[in-house]
Amino acid sequence: MNRLFQTKSIESMRVELESEKNPLRRVLGPLDLTLIGVGGIIGAGIFVLTGHAAAQYAGPAIVLSLILAGLACAFSGLCYAEFASMIPIAGSAYTYAYTTLGEFLAWIIGWDLILEYSLGATAVAIGWSGYVVSFLADLGLQLPAALSRAPYDFNPETNLWSATGAFLNLPAALVVLAITLLLLRGIKESAGVNRVVVILKVFVVLIFILAGLFFLKPSLWKPFIPANTGTFGFYGISGVFRGAGVIFFAYLGFDAVSTTAQEARNPQKDMPIGILASLFVCTILYILVALVMTGVVPYQKLNDAAPVAIAINAMGLPWLRPVVKIGAIAGLTSVILVQLLSQPRIFYTMAKDGLLPQAAAKVHPRFRTPYVTTLVTGILIAFCAALLPIGIVGELVSIGTLFAFVIVCAGVLVMRKTRPDLPRPFRTPAVPLVPILGILSCLYLMFSLPGDTWIRLILWMAIGLGIYFGYGKKHSRLGRETSKE
Ligand code: ALA
Repeated sequence: MNRLFQTKSIESMRVELESEKNPLRRVLGPLDLTLIGVGGIIGAGIFVLTGHAAAQYAGPAIVLSLILAGLACAFSGLCYAEFASMIPIAGSAYTYAYTTLGEFLAWIIGWDLILEYSLGATAVAIGWSGYVVSFLADLGLQLPAALSRAPYDFNPETNLWSATGAFLNLPAALVVLAITLLLLRGIKESAGVNRVVVILKVFVVLIFILAGLFFLKPSLWKPFIPANTGTFGFYGISGVFRGAGVIFFAYLGFDAVSTTAQEARNPQKDMPIGILASLFVCTILYILVALVMTGVVPYQKLNDAAPVAIAINAMGLPWLRPVVKIGAIAGLTSVILVQLLSQPRIFYTMAKDGLLPQAAAKVHPRFRTPYVTTLVTGILIAFCAALLPIGIVGELVSIGTLFAFVIVCAGVLVMRKTRPDLPRPFRTPAVPLVPILGILSCLYLMFSLPGDTWIRLILWMAIGLGIYFGYGKKHSRLGRETSKE
């Protein structure tokens, strides 16, 4: 078989896992896994993007956009759940691709996941900094502008970069470094902090929804789907779909649960629970938040970096403003935490397979965390968060994630054909329908993103191919084992 499409057998992974004694610490139960999912999901998407998507594309029908994006995620989530219960290895979609579609596509997905997790953490850290700076300003503490913005900004309309006069985004870099230190310390400690932060943010989201119920003006939901302006994607049905593409970002994170498979006590059973329960809870919360937002403020007014705050102003509840800001900061913090947790575990698995240098597979003897990859990832992301503007990173994160989802859904179909015999503690229902709907809905969302994003994705992949043919292919463990035989 062509080396590029050679797959790694699940049996060999199981043997590896058992013979080496899993170096990571198995401490996570179903509740922590679900909270890691919720931690990774609720963040910049709902606290920032919903308003923009409602005001510009969908109107009150942003609720329908959320349902559509949620459905695409549910199809993919069901496929993730089958794989995660069958192959409980930290590499997530990268590992699933390795067992079904071969090394080459696995590398592509591993490289692609950097967009989701590293770039995702960068984008959310920049958003975090924005919220913290504004919260401190409310308290009368003004942070110097030179230390709270990237030095250059990119204008997508003119395609030009311009100097902002600032040096760096210090809060964004600091939050990344602080979370990196926590993650180095241990998975149990990290899950503990995540638990507290997630409870806080869900609590704030619930307060927002409950308070909003008293101020709803159902007339604001009429018309629920505003008439299309004449341009595709601006209101009307096409606007609902465009809104779904934009708001997809809000759901991203449930798949991160699968990167902690080697730290779960009972991955076969608990991985599907963590993935699906977190997605379910967040979908319900998102729909309610969007109903409240568009039910208390005319949707045209929601185009703001803090749409939730606009809704609170409309309710006339000033005491709720700082509470919601704290909730948003908590939300963004746990998203960064989960993304910074996921990325090193994927690098760790890739290094164990020989596709990245061996040093990256080192586990700390005392903390039992993949400390080399955690540290390197943290430092690189801190640099990016300090220096990059937010606009340039957001859409690349979504396209990268959607690509991984397509491969995971396709992988379920392939695996059902090639290895029908394998025990599947969780089975994706209605195969082939669910994976096919997953592939189609994710491809649709990918095509709804701007052309520039595609070009950047292709450039990123080209760099990845260079690294694979220059390094990975030669050092691949599977490749070496095959040539010995
Ligand atoms: N879903 C995450 C967020 O909205 C990435 O921040």
